[in-house]
Amino acid sequence: MQTFLIDNIQLIILIHVLSAMIWVGGMIAIRVAVHPSMQSIEEPKIKLGKTLMIMKRLFHLVLPFILLLLLTAIIMILGFKFEGNFASISLTKETIWTIMTLNYSYMYYKRHQAEKLFNLGKLAEAKAQVSNIPNLLLPINIGLGVIALYLGVVLRGM
Ligand code: HEM
Repeated sequence: MQTFLIDNIQLIILIHVLSAMIWVGGMIAIRVAVHPSMQSIEEPKIKLGKTLMIMKRLFHLVLPFILLLLLTAIIMILGFKFEGNFASISLTKETIWTIMTLNYSYMYYKRHQAEKLFNLGKLAEAKAQVSNIPNLLLPINIGLGVIALYLGVVLRGM
């Protein structure tokens, strides 16, 4: 694994950083640019329907990058010397990744439930399923993502 890592280090870090950019950047764009703009839609059914559609597209976009982030992280863990500060920071990042992925899975599930209710015409119930995503769950993942980015910079060249 060490030889594989040395031969492909630039590609592996590129995939790792690109995945982080798309996951964290995607969430920030939705939270800061798209979500507030959606509030200007007055018709509740259209507003909720479009919101669910946008969330679906975001969740499907980031899924492969969540997996690539972990894959490249594992390659780096196996290839670099896993000891001292490198080991403890890597473990912290793994914990962050796990919490972010669990949170992502929960949001994915809630959105799916909301879509089913929406299709049955149960608008209020559908809205209740996703109501804490923009104000709680998405900001938690954005915050954790930024901490993971910072720890990535700390790990650089260790
Ligand atoms: C799954 C656990 C993770 C491990 C073990 C891990 C490991 C690493 C390592 C070893 C580096 C340094 C590469 C080098 O030598 O330059 C790195 C860099 C980086 N990581 Fe992670 N990572 C993990 C998860 C994440 C997550 C969840 C994010 C963000 C969402 C992230 C974002 C970054 C970024 C942006 C860099 C590059 C920083 C720079 O410019 O130097 N990582 N990561």
